Amino acid sequence: MKRLRSFRKDEATRDKYAEIKLSKDDLIQPYFIVDGSNVREEIPGLSGIYHFSTDTAIDDISRLAASGINAIIIFGAVDASLKDGTGSNACAEGNLVARAVGEIKNRFPGLTVMTDVCLCGYTNHGHCGLVKDGEILNDETLPLLAQMALTHAKSGADFVAPSAMMDGQVGAIRDILNKNGLKKTRILSYSTKYASNFYGPFRNAAGSAPSFGDRKTYQCDYRTVKQGIEEARQDIREGADWLMVKPAHTYLDMICRIKKKFPRKTLAAYHVSGEYMAVRKLAEASLADEKSAMLEVLTGIKRAGADKIITYFAKDFALMKS
Ligand code: PBG
Repeated sequence: MKRLRSFRKDEATRDKYAEIKLSKDDLIQPYFIVDGSNVREEIPGLSGIYHFSTDTAIDDISRLAASGINAIIIFGAVDASLKDGTGSNACAEGNLVARAVGEIKNRFPGLTVMTDVCLCGYTNHGHCGLVKDGEILNDETLPLLAQMALTHAKSGADFVAPSAMMDGQVGAIRDILNKNGLKKTRILSYSTKYASNFYGPFRNAAGSAPSFGDRKTYQCDYRTVKQGIEEARQDIREGADWLMVKPAHTYLDMICRIKKKFPRKTLAAYHVSGEYMAVRKLAEASLADEKSAMLEVLTGIKRAGADKIITYFAKDFALMKS
């Protein structure tokens, strides 16, 4: 009989044999930015996460950076009055996200700042692309996503992160960045993104729920495997620097498969809003200890093969006493 229990006999022994160790460098904290100043409102349905105006975000990022997290991803939550059929505000120079990125980079030059590139938070129909006769148009959407990414890149974003799941979006963005000499801006592609039920709290926070239909004609079908790998392969061809699997917790196998297939590419995984809230709700109901459940889930995502994890828990992890 092999005495495997000897590896687990006490905490020091377990620590010694632990193969996967989560580190602050692995984590990326999302921020939802709104217009105005001095805004700091907890987002209903997304406990512990706030709508910040840029000034209050900067205060919060000071604490985040002091805690040892060195990367954030920014989402703009714009007023309904700024939304239209084409999401024109997404591409407008000097818009909310562009200003926020500029100010944040100015204040924290060493912080890695990423931006989400997608129209859903800017269109009045809430879809990620242009809509005609109830259909979400692909090719017509590409120049808009490219322009949006350019706006973010010009304002100093280190990474632009296209999440619209339009075919060719990475290539279109790479092209426009090259044409504008923005050689240092990198592309984190939401390459393998599934049509998921777990985005609910985020859509509430970003005001980006589709007003009709769903996203199943563009985001991946969770009953498929091969398409998800093909999406990643295609994005590498189009010039993606980093890949992503999203959601992370429900799609650990896809993290594992894509990391195996493309081992040299940095792979990010997005522990999405609904997955985050599942842990929070368990803890709120006293059915799990929040910190240890968080550690288990995030470690599981890393164990599957993620190099980077976008998570609403990043700051909590960094501030946790070990
Ligand atoms: C934009 C986008 C979404 C998320 C990130 N970028 C929502 C969606 O696709 O509907 C979800 C993130 C989360 O749930 O935490 N397309």
